[in-house]
Amino acid sequence: MALLTIKNLTATTNVQPILDGINLAIDQGETHLIMGPNGSGKTSLAQTIMGNITAKVTGEISFEDNEITKLTAAERAELGIFLAFQNPPEIPGVNIFSYLRTIYNKKHRKELELLDLKIYLEKLHLNETILERNLNEDFSGGEKKKLETLQLLLLKPKLAILDELDSGLDIDALQTVTTAITNLQKETNMAIIVISHLAKVADYLPITKVHILKLGKIVKSNGKEILEELIKTGYAKL
Ligand SMILES: Nc1ncnc2c1ncn2[C@@H]1O[C@H](COP(=O)(O)OP(=O)(O)O)[C@@H](O)[C@H]1O
Ligand SMILES: [Mg+2]
Repeated sequence: MALLTIKNLTATTNVQPILDGINLAIDQGETHLIMGPNGSGKTSLAQTIMGNITAKVTGEISFEDNEITKLTAAERAELGIFLAFQNPPEIPGVNIFSYLRTIYNKKHRKELELLDLKIYLEKLHLNETILERNLNEDFSGGEKKKLETLQLLLLKPKLAILDELDSGLDIDALQTVTTAITNLQKETNMAIIVISHLAKVADYLPITKVHILKLGKIVKSNGKEILEELIKTGYAKL
């Protein structure tokens, strides 16, 4: 049994189907890349796995032998699923340091030491002064993505879903963030689902499988050799 198994997953809003019979299995230590045109359902798939979607969902999602389809996002997070948002929301009034301490404490049942936190900030080349600020408020695109990564590093999930984490990151920041994530994966053997528009992300993360999503369906699943073909022909031929 894989860590995450998805069977015949559909999601339908009152206007249209957005996921249409997704099957997917991901094991510990694997890194799956999901690519697809704009509006193909990548974010909807990520949010459906996390339990964060208003659309009507059918099918089955199991995580470590638990059927999680009916669980809340908080319960799924508790089980070890983490989603880095494509567009992290700005939450004025929520201080970052208290927020990080709260999520860390809830997960690990111990206090987050400032010294440890500073090590993570350094790893991500984030300035300590962000701790005094509010969640994502007036953050640059890159800073938002780094703060998502910081939460990932602190929570050490079993499955990390990265929804276009690379968009908004400059080339140095991309290297910094993916190095930190790869090191965590080596340490914990977590599974990763990467959603990206850049085939080049395979130079930064150890991609084990590539899935192409179109109109809410996985139309192709391959090794990363498919990326070369994709760069040449685009999605139209697939
Ligand atoms: N809550 C919603 N209500 C109606 N349509 C939605 C909702 N969420 C997503 N969609 C639609 O579902 C499709 C897939 O969106 P999305 O998953 O964000 O695509 P991607 O991340 O691949 O660009 C789009 O057509 C989008 O407009
Ligand atoms: Mg998206």
